[in-house]
Amino acid sequence: MPRFDMPVRIKTRVGIVGAGPAGLLLSHLLHLEGIESIVVESRSRRYAEERVRAGVLEQSTVDLLCASGVGERLRREGLIHHGVELRFEGRGHRIDMRELTGRSITVYGQNELMKDLADARISAGGRTEYEAEDAGIRDFDTDSPVIRYRKDGEPREIACEFIAGCDGFHGICRPSIPAGALRVFEKIYPFGWLGILAEAEPASDELIYASHQRGFALMSMRSRSITRLYLQCAAEENLAEWPDGRIWEELETRFATREGFRLDFRLNRGPILQKGVTAMRSFVVEPMQYGRLFLAGDAAHIVPPTGAKGLNLAVADVAALARALAHFAKTADRSLLDRYSETCLRRVWRVQRFSWWMTSMLHRLSEHDDFDRRRQLAELRQVTESRAAATHFAENYAGLPLL
Ligand code: FAD
Ligand code: DHB
Repeated sequence: MPRFDMPVRIKTRVGIVGAGPAGLLLSHLLHLEGIESIVVESRSRRYAEERVRAGVLEQSTVDLLCASGVGERLRREGLIHHGVELRFEGRGHRIDMRELTGRSITVYGQNELMKDLADARISAGGRTEYEAEDAGIRDFDTDSPVIRYRKDGEPREIACEFIAGCDGFHGICRPSIPAGALRVFEKIYPFGWLGILAEAEPASDELIYASHQRGFALMSMRSRSITRLYLQCAAEENLAEWPDGRIWEELETRFATREGFRLDFRLNRGPILQKGVTAMRSFVVEPMQYGRLFLAGDAAHIVPPTGAKGLNLAVADVAALARALAHFAKTADRSLLDRYSETCLRRVWRVQRFSWWMTSMLHRLSEHDDFDRRRQLAELRQVTESRAAATHFAENYAGLPLL
């Protein structure tokens, strides 16, 4: 029996905080390289698998998941989209990503990916400590970092060689780095997104990003019978003021298309299964590492959801981290680990720029005047009418190749 105040000590090579997509995929990729890891997660497995979040996977994310053996269901059930629609002034304009760049996206819910990754960890005998309380990290500026937490009331400690901080924006890893060692870059947008999941057939086969005088709206999906819809709202919007009927009417106004005076686009309505409001921010810390602690995914950066990039960036980070850790394990050469932050930040800033640009082009701000609206419409026309501008959009939306 352990003494009540003496933590149970566990050893592993890489201690991972957070079993979101970044943490679980990192653990899986390390396993493929023969490197043992343990994941510590504050929530239950069920919570992570039911939370409705991202839906769009870039081509390189899909390629990595398939190549690492967790893409079987994704390949079977994911919806491959070769194009995306930008809708403004009552008309839709399709951007053909495949024709312009040879690349496509796949619509597959983040919660489905979470199930696939958790199953892969279990069948490989991997250890994930769900419902771990009061996690904390220490000694990551030495060669023997430690993660401590409590499980079922019992104190535990993981002694490891490296810690991966994959614990999202509100996690404990980033704030554990001494003040002054990190530089923060941040932009908060004065609006949010009200998102719903509805049991209704998507009204279009491809995603629609709509810029309307009353604000932005987005139609996405999870399957052929489930629609995912978002509309721009106030940053602190009160959901109680949005009964279902009001949500549907506002969405239909923003997606409306016209032929002459005839309105000819209808969303398919159905029971609303889930509603939520998401805040919008751009956030980056530099560097993404300190001693033997490496931050990955939302723990290090947040993008506004308009470009559908957050999950994809998290995947790119852990691909780079797994490669650097594997290289160190094989050769004792730290150079890739030392360059981890620099490698990731090049992509992070390109994606930040794209997400900010797409957000600015499509949303309405209260301070916008007629000049700003004309400027936005001119930009949307440029993106949809110029092949060069459409290619710039498609290249970024379908995603940059992984290094
Ligand atoms: P998270 O998913 O946040 O995982 C972090 C994990 O750490 C969580 O499980 C959390 O419980 C755990 N944790 C936190 N604190 C602790 C602690 N103290 N101890 C232990 N564990 C802890 N991205 C896209 O690419 N495409 C999209 O279409 C898209 N759409 C989105 C739509 C919405 C509405 C939202 C909110 C986000 C969207 N994103 C999208 C972003 C995407 O969901 C995130 O970027 C992604 O989840 C990041 O993964 P992560 O593993 O870094 O962090
Ligand atoms: C989804 C979310 C996004 O942020 C986006 O840009 C596209 C699709 C989605 O949830 O399906």
